[in-house]
This record gives sequence, C-alpha cells and structure tokens, in this order.
Amino acid sequence: MSRIIVITSGKGGVGKTTVTSNLGAAIANLGRKVALVDADFGLRNLDLLLGLEERVVYTALDVLAGECRLAQALVKDKRLNGLVLLPAAQNRNKESVEPEQMKTIITALAKGYDYIIVDSPAGIELGFRNSIVAAKEALIVTTPEIAAVRDADRVIGLLEAEGVSKINLIVNRIKPHMIEENKMMSVEDVLELLGVPLIGVIPDNEAVIVSTNKGEPLILGDPGSLPALAFKNIAQRLEGEKVPFLNFASDQGNILTKLRRIFGG
Ligand SMILES: Nc1ncnc2c1ncn2[C@@H]1O[C@H](COP(=O)(O)OP(=O)(O)OP(=O)(O)O)[C@@H](O)[C@H]1O
Ligand SMILES: [Mg+2]
Repeated sequence: MSRIIVITSGKGGVGKTTVTSNLGAAIANLGRKVALVDADFGLRNLDLLLGLEERVVYTALDVLAGECRLAQALVKDKRLNGLVLLPAAQNRNKESVEPEQMKTIITALAKGYDYIIVDSPAGIELGFRNSIVAAKEALIVTTPEIAAVRDADRVIGLLEAEGVSKINLIVNRIKPHMIEENKMMSVEDVLELLGVPLIGVIPDNEAVIVSTNKGEPLILGDPGSLPALAFKNIAQRLEGEKVPFLNFASDQGNILTKLRRIFGG
C-alpha cells in the first residue's frame, strides 16, 4: 500500500516546496520509492528545487490530454534511486485541471511507489482541492507567525471536512534566538494553537537557501547540516521510528530562558 501525502499550508511562501523536495529526497535515501507531484500549476517550482528543470519534457497536463503515457512524464532523479517527479505545466491555464483528473493520475501513480508526495499551491481554491483530492495524509507546514498559523488552522479544518484525518505538523523557519528573546512564537505555542501532532521542526538556515539555489536537496548537497538532519528525522518518523526532536537552542539561550522562567520574564 502506498502512502499519498499532501504538503499544504494555506499561506504562501512558508516552505511547502522546500519540504516536498527535501523530505522526498530524504525518504528516497532510506530506500523507498517516492513520486513527487507538483500540483502548483500556476507557479511550479519543484523541478527547480530538485535541479530537474532541464529534464522536464512532459507534464501532468500532457498525461491528462493523452499526449503521453504517465511513465513518460516522470522525471527520474539520477542521484537518488527511486525518486521521480511528475512536473506541473507552467504556461497553461491553471484552472484547466479538475480534482477528478488529479485523482485518476495520482491513483495510477500510487501503484508503483511507496510514497506519493503532493506539493500544493498556496490558497484554498481549485489548486488546493486538486492537491488534496487523492490524499490520505497531510503534512501542514507553518512558520511561527500568526498569519501562517491562522491559515494552517483553516486548512486543517478543510482537510478534516474532506476526510483527511491523518494530519501532522511541520514548523519551519525556527529562529531560536528570537524565541529566547520572546520575539517569536515557540513550537509549543504553535502546537497549542493548532492541536495536531508535531512531526518535525526545521531551523531557519542558510543551507536551505544554498540548496534551493543549487537545485540540490540537502541530503545530497549538505547532508551534515542541521536542516538536512531535520528532514532525515521527519523521514524516519514517517517510517514509524521514534526520533527525538532537535533542540536548536544555544546553551546561553537555555540559561537565559530558564532565568526568565524563574524570574517570570
Ligand atoms: N528553513 C528555511 N530556512 C531558510 N529559508 C527557507 C527555509 N524554508 C524555506 N525557505 C525559503 O523560503 C522561500 C519560500 O519557500 P518555498 O518556495 O518552499 O515556499 P512555498 O510554501 O512552497 O511557497 P508557495 O506558497 O509560493 O508555493 C524560499 O526562498 C526558500 O528557500
Ligand atoms: Mg511552493
């Protein structure tokens, strides 16, 4: 049985595509067969983050139009065995795909892969509905900002209404020094507001930007970096392993935080 997981957020720019590419690569690195589906038909990016843009020939729209077979549209990652991308079309009307069509394509894809991971566009319109239609599970990505958390809450409600009941949370772009200085919500604050289980925390880190610009997932390009470890941990948790959460806080920060707690600061 393959697992069909949608990566979604409501709010734009919080890291959905970053999570899809890096988590996909991390799961493939564990020896699983992974198909990544770019459901962002308006502004596709997943091919770029994976460094596969020059190898895209066909897209999901060509498959739907009967212009190629599904297998022909899949771009194989030569660096990671078992990782493929189903690209989205960039230049066509993004309203031209319907949820039922997405469902057909994802269901067909599910036959050959352990994981289907769908990168959703921002918002809650047609593109969002296309990306969740076949999903059995969802990973909600949020940053520790009030607008992102509010949108995440809305999306969780919509997913539950659609029968996607297995929902986990990824908190992205954590800045420990800001949390320590009480300038940013902590992971605990976000969890309390959203009430869904946490599956990963990812630091705000330059290595993510470098890997995006190089088109090289962190597990390949910078496997020793903190965010690479964060993605590896999420992959292992999805596989059912118990992996402790990373603690990004500096020692100094820990002491400060403790002192503040003691003195009520
Ligand atoms: N943990 C991180 N540390 C540093 N930069 C990050 C991190 N996560 C994401 N970014 C940066 O934030 C930007 C937005 O990320 P990304 O494109 O993954 O978001 P998105 O949710 O897919 O956006 P959209 O809603 O437009 O599809 C990118 O420039 C990315 O490099
Ligand atoms: Mg995106």
